Amino acid sequence: MLEDSKNRIDFLTQKLHYFNNQYYQNSISEISDYEFDRLLLELQNLEKEFPQFKHENSPTERVGGTITKDFKTVKHKFPMLSLSNTYSKEDIFEWETRVKKGLLGIDNQPVIFFCEQKFDGVAISLIYENGKLKQAITRGDGTQGDDITANAKTIKTIPLHISGENIPAWFEVRGEVFFPLKNFEKLNVSQADAGEALYANPRNTASGTLKLQHSSEVAKRGLDCFLYSLLGENLPVLSHHESIELLKKWGFNISPTYKNCSSIEQVWEYITYWETKRFELPLATDGIVIKIDSISQQENLGYTAKSPRWAIAYKFKAASESTVLEQVTYQVGRTGAVTPVANMKPVLLAGTTVKRATLHNEDEILRLDLHENDTVFIEKGGEIIPKIISVDITKRKPNAIKINFIKTCPECDTLLVRNPEEAAWFCTNEKGCPPQIKGRMAHFIHRKAMNIDGMGEETIEQFYNANLIRNYADLYDLKYEQIIGLERFAQKSAQNVIDGLKNSTQVPFEKVLFALGIKFVGATVAEKLAKHFYSVENIQNATLEQLTSTPEIGERIALSVKNWFSDTDNLKTIERLKQAGLQFKTDEKEIILESSKLEGLTFVISGTFEQFSREELQEKIAVNGGKILSGVSGKLNFLLAGENMGPSKLEKATKLGVKIISEAEFLTMI
Ligand code: IVH
Repeated sequence: MLEDSKNRIDFLTQKLHYFNNQYYQNSISEISDYEFDRLLLELQNLEKEFPQFKHENSPTERVGGTITKDFKTVKHKFPMLSLSNTYSKEDIFEWETRVKKGLLGIDNQPVIFFCEQKFDGVAISLIYENGKLKQAITRGDGTQGDDITANAKTIKTIPLHISGENIPAWFEVRGEVFFPLKNFEKLNVSQADAGEALYANPRNTASGTLKLQHSSEVAKRGLDCFLYSLLGENLPVLSHHESIELLKKWGFNISPTYKNCSSIEQVWEYITYWETKRFELPLATDGIVIKIDSISQQENLGYTAKSPRWAIAYKFKAASESTVLEQVTYQVGRTGAVTPVANMKPVLLAGTTVKRATLHNEDEILRLDLHENDTVFIEKGGEIIPKIISVDITKRKPNAIKINFIKTCPECDTLLVRNPEEAAWFCTNEKGCPPQIKGRMAHFIHRKAMNIDGMGEETIEQFYNANLIRNYADLYDLKYEQIIGLERFAQKSAQNVIDGLKNSTQVPFEKVLFALGIKFVGATVAEKLAKHFYSVENIQNATLEQLTSTPEIGERIALSVKNWFSDTDNLKTIERLKQAGLQFKTDEKEIILESSKLEGLTFVISGTFEQFSREELQEKIAVNGGKILSGVSGKLNFLLAGENMGPSKLEKATKLGVKIISEAEFLTMI
């Protein structure tokens, strides 16, 4: 039996590595995503049961699960230097002269340049031993960085191990971890949906993501990595491009944009080509790196204290133009937040015509001191989205009128309000303001929420205009006959909507909860609430304290949830959705008991712990037969107390004579 399990773990590990390699390194999918996930889940379950057989670099590491409290500091074997930056053609040509002078009389071979993108991300060093990824380290101060191995392993294009002939026993690969722009936008859409602050730029967010404590959260974000150098002893390469080819052969992710150039004029051509073309790349870049291709020439040129003499970075200036502000308009979002938008005279900027740019909020208008008809400078950095940087006040007419943020909602005329701790002005007419009503319905049908096939934002707009829907519960009263009469709807498309709605009644509770559009309840929070409370009634009846004792639910979210469920219209909507057959409870989690040591005992967990997260402790209690209660009461047997637990809980537990135990004491119980 034990032998069987070990064999199955070995088999699945090997198979999944193979499929991963085929998919990420060779772009071949041999099995469906569904089948892959099924095998991965089987492996995860087996590894949980038989941790002694788990492989060090198991494919399950890709989905994360490791929690790192403090990242270990590691010294780099070779320091991670920086590059000297230049900004002009002249600088590039001068560098070439310096290089040629440096090689004069030492190496008379022709100089070949290797040009590649300067990726705007976070530098990383990957150490491989015997073909296995051993360690991933951040740049840190260049001499030592943080060990972020568990998080790096979730990046699917980083090979966990490589195979092939003549692989050195030890080597190091360096590259740049980055946020693909698509994934970054997705992340911000879900932030906005949850009413959370947006992330400022892909680079800082990539850097923050690499330092998250839960690797499973890192896995969800979708980071990627391009590699650009290979280090080690006695490597079978004579030039940089050979090492890049070798890395490619070993399955590392190499940007296909590199090029060898035989003259500095060709280098300049490469630079000018990418100056605008870079906006078509799937990631932010901020320049071009030029390296001397020959390794022996590199060695002869050597290093200054900070950077190699054999390489240089040409930094792109952010593309910039000036144009005239024609009008500031205001958009009202699903949550009622009002966003000012600058409408400008169309202008060509780095290959695209720009005529609108967000002004974010009132503070941004004040920062720019924006006046009507101002001439503004707009820039496009590495991140595609144009931004107003400043105003050309020399062009402002003396009697120009200052732009004042509107006082009432542009859609429904309600007086706007602004909370002192928020940057946005809000329209509070939740129930009567059309973009808020439509926005809530569009959110409800969204792919990540009810995922209703056959419908999109335009469908919502159309049904709304036809007076068919005012609330998402109205969707489930729609009849085929009502839809078929509308423009653009034929038999098939009308039936698709009806079927899509019908199918959505099977969408699991956590998605339904997310779809309701409660402020601050994004997809992750909804999942946490659904897991913790099992049913909508439990959430509705939960006290503020019970809500805040849910993992990762703070007071702001708890208050918003309480507030939402205190509105009788919302409760009526829930009743209607229940009638329509939507899921408002989870199937209680199926628990596979490991022991019955805690049978009949009840626990409340509070504070933070050394060895395990709260969720892990909850699971340990459940699999050993214990029960979790949502608050301290006379019925409670144990308060499992970590650091920084709430004083009120402690006081209540002491008063009621509830036994208070530490993490260590709890572990001895099981
Ligand atoms: S080579 C000795 N190549 O730029 C320096 N660096 O300013 C070797 N970077 O810390 C670095 N793209 O994070 C190199 N194609 C590229 C790069 C690149 C981005 C970053 C890297 C480094 C910084 C140096």
